[in-house]
Amino acid sequence: MNDYRNRIELNPIFSRPGEVETAPLNTFPKQSMLPETAYQIVHDDSMLDGNSRLNLATFVSTWMDGYADKLYSEAYDKNAIDKDEYPRTAAMENHCWHMLADLWNAPDSTKSIGCSTTGSSEACMLGGLALKRRWQEKRRAAGKSTDKPNLVMTSAVQVCWEKFCDYFDIEARYVPISMEHKVMDGYKLEDYIDEHTIGVVVIMGVTYTGMYEPVAKIARKLDAIQKSCGLDIPIHVDGASGAMIAPFIQPNLIWDFRVDRVSSISTSGHKYGLVYPGIGWVVWRDASLLPESLIFKVSYLGGEMPTFALNFSRPGAQILLQYWAFLRYGFEGYQNVQQSTIDVARYLAQEIASMGPFELWNDASDIPVFAWMLKDSPDRLWTLYDLSDRLRMKGWQVPAYPMPTDLTDLTVQRIVVRNGLGMNLANDLLDDIRTEVAWLDKNHTVVTKPSNAAFHH
Ligand SMILES: Cc1ncc(COP(=O)(O)O)c(C=O)c1O
Repeated sequence: MNDYRNRIELNPIFSRPGEVETAPLNTFPKQSMLPETAYQIVHDDSMLDGNSRLNLATFVSTWMDGYADKLYSEAYDKNAIDKDEYPRTAAMENHCWHMLADLWNAPDSTKSIGCSTTGSSEACMLGGLALKRRWQEKRRAAGKSTDKPNLVMTSAVQVCWEKFCDYFDIEARYVPISMEHKVMDGYKLEDYIDEHTIGVVVIMGVTYTGMYEPVAKIARKLDAIQKSCGLDIPIHVDGASGAMIAPFIQPNLIWDFRVDRVSSISTSGHKYGLVYPGIGWVVWRDASLLPESLIFKVSYLGGEMPTFALNFSRPGAQILLQYWAFLRYGFEGYQNVQQSTIDVARYLAQEIASMGPFELWNDASDIPVFAWMLKDSPDRLWTLYDLSDRLRMKGWQVPAYPMPTDLTDLTVQRIVVRNGLGMNLANDLLDDIRTEVAWLDKNHTVVTKPSNAAFHH
């Protein structure tokens, strides 16, 4: 009997005379096949993936223009770590993080240091590692123990911070959010800080809801803590999304290197940096904040090039794309793109709020992301999970999930608006939400709630 779970039957139209008629799925293929046959198999298989334009769950760029595609295809082969072989890619990487240091108001961007990464997760981990090493070096110099470092952050952190603490033996101290404190805002921060605290992570654009945490307010709280007990706690800003929105949309918001306590900032080039996955960036205000002991030297044009990264080899093409995007859009272009994305998000938020059954958690006033809850109603038998399922049938991915610790009974649904979701598509989505709400109201069926683990931030 054919075992279709372990082999692919080749369509006879595609397999050429003399070629194999089946290919294994889970064991290493013994024979070769023609490139066009292999292409057809992979091409057909990937057609079953979702449509990225309708995926309102992801923050990651799904569209760049034709010149970016051309550059990408010219640079597939470049390995970012081969700085000796690709010195121009290395130079473009340096231009990019210097530009970011400038955009984020580093006091002297020529004194800053930074690097590209595969995304925000790696960028956050490098930021966190620098905090840990600085804390260790300071403690050792003072003859104190370096046991039990901890990192303070909101309970609504992205999973990369949980991983970071787990992988690098750091105690994660989560400050819970509540209906009164929808983001970590400095309230009771002193209860979480002690002499083993390596830093505080402040998120510009919390993944669950898109809200900004108030960097300047948290810094003032840390100033007060320093005054009362002498602990000088640095901040890493996780600006995965917001660090590429705030400079253009909220230029007067003080969140970046203008806040003295901010020692490093990370972002995803592949989110609102408008580049295909995977590229991220991390920048330290001043080279002195990145301990020398973390930097490895690789050969560069007969000289030495410092690197700080978790991976060794990785694609260099995204660096070219980021440099292209900075040159092509400039401040003005980024401002236009981000503003139109925000306009769509705010329009969607208002329309969803006016439908009746929903209450907004936030209204996209920070990044173009917002979440909503269901109002209490004894007659209603459906949940946001049901609405998510109904929308999925039409191709839309609009996740519903529980909020973190202390608010886990609360379910929200979230939309991430990216470049490419215009007003027309937004109106199609609104029509579909209205239709599905009416269907659910009429049928009143309760579909089983998926487990809490269904959506990963
Ligand atoms: C606040 C925050 N930090 C970190 C990350 C991880 O980013 P990446 O997917 O680029 O690794 C995300 C992703 O959504 C995020 O929202």
